[in-house]
Amino acid sequence: PKGLADAMKERGREFIGTALTLRGNATEEAIARNPADFNSFTPENSMKWESIEPGRNNFTFDDADRYRDWAKKNKKEIHCHTLVWHSQLPTWVSQGGFDNATLISIMKNHIFKVAGRYKDVCTRWDVVNEALNEDGTYRSSVFYNTIGEAFIPIAFRFAKQASPKSELFYNDYNLEYNGNKTLGAQRIVKLVQSYGVEINGVGLQAHLAQETTPTAGPLPDQKTLETVLRGYTQLDVDVVYTEIDIRMNTPATPEKLRAQAKAYETVAKSCLAVKRCIGMTVWGISDAFSWIPGVFPGEGAALLWDENLKKKPAYDGFLKGIKAR
Ligand code: G3I
Repeated sequence: PKGLADAMKERGREFIGTALTLRGNATEEAIARNPADFNSFTPENSMKWESIEPGRNNFTFDDADRYRDWAKKNKKEIHCHTLVWHSQLPTWVSQGGFDNATLISIMKNHIFKVAGRYKDVCTRWDVVNEALNEDGTYRSSVFYNTIGEAFIPIAFRFAKQASPKSELFYNDYNLEYNGNKTLGAQRIVKLVQSYGVEINGVGLQAHLAQETTPTAGPLPDQKTLETVLRGYTQLDVDVVYTEIDIRMNTPATPEKLRAQAKAYETVAKSCLAVKRCIGMTVWGISDAFSWIPGVFPGEGAALLWDENLKKKPAYDGFLKGIKAR
């Protein structure tokens, strides 16, 4: 195989993706376009609620449409992101003050308009994003506080009606450690199923660290990762690593870059060890544009291409993990 996606398909899996922001960087775009490496992408911000429905029933589809067009032109799948999330939510929603029925109708309108518009291009949808606290309880949000946990199955039901062909995912971070949050997402899968509503997968964001940093790490070992993935597939859903990046305390050194390559290899191997791990998405191409240093100063260098858009050892580690038998 010539690249990541080629290798992944050769192993009988569906896709390798990247988060994508079309910012006019031709080198970055060419890497994302290369079909040998990527056959899928996730729009990094353009389909989020504040971008797409900034005012009530006021939809601004132009930016998201660019990604749909890019996907068609470059023959990519889109992992669409995300319909119901407490963050990047416009104030008119997050400030609340709605009764239960009104908020459900707001959610319904949002999901039908957005998922409906892109029903032919969204291979997968992150229907509900980050509904859990670290201890596995539900996060306080306008959705949970107004509707209760039923907001989750209700969102999945609307999404299936609006976009019947898309695979529907619950997506969250820090599910990779086999702790209470891992169990919380299992509970969510069972909750949706108990409503007789279809849920097709769990997305594990995999914002990981190769070493202990002030905000993460150490990396879960391969066995733990496999156990976590199987905990979901046993519930009859697929799993995907949806937003992989593996950060370090910067600056990078040759030694850290080697450890990072190993970390990427471990994550890839864990996916390939579990039959229903259908794909993996890395959260961006180049370290130059990653969200990490802005949010966690002193951490970063988490992706497969460095700040000068040169391939890092992590790329080879990831490819090695995909190919390993
Ligand atoms: O576009 C505006 C620009 O006009 C403005 O001048 C600038 C000033 O702050 O902000 C720009 O928007 C930023 C946007 O990224 C686009 O660059 C937002 O401030 C910034 O908050 C936003 O960050 C995104 C973040 O989600 C927001 O929560 C990151 O790009 C994106 O990588 C990150 O992705 C999330 C996933 O959606 C969910 N899981 C975690 C992951 C990492 O945080």
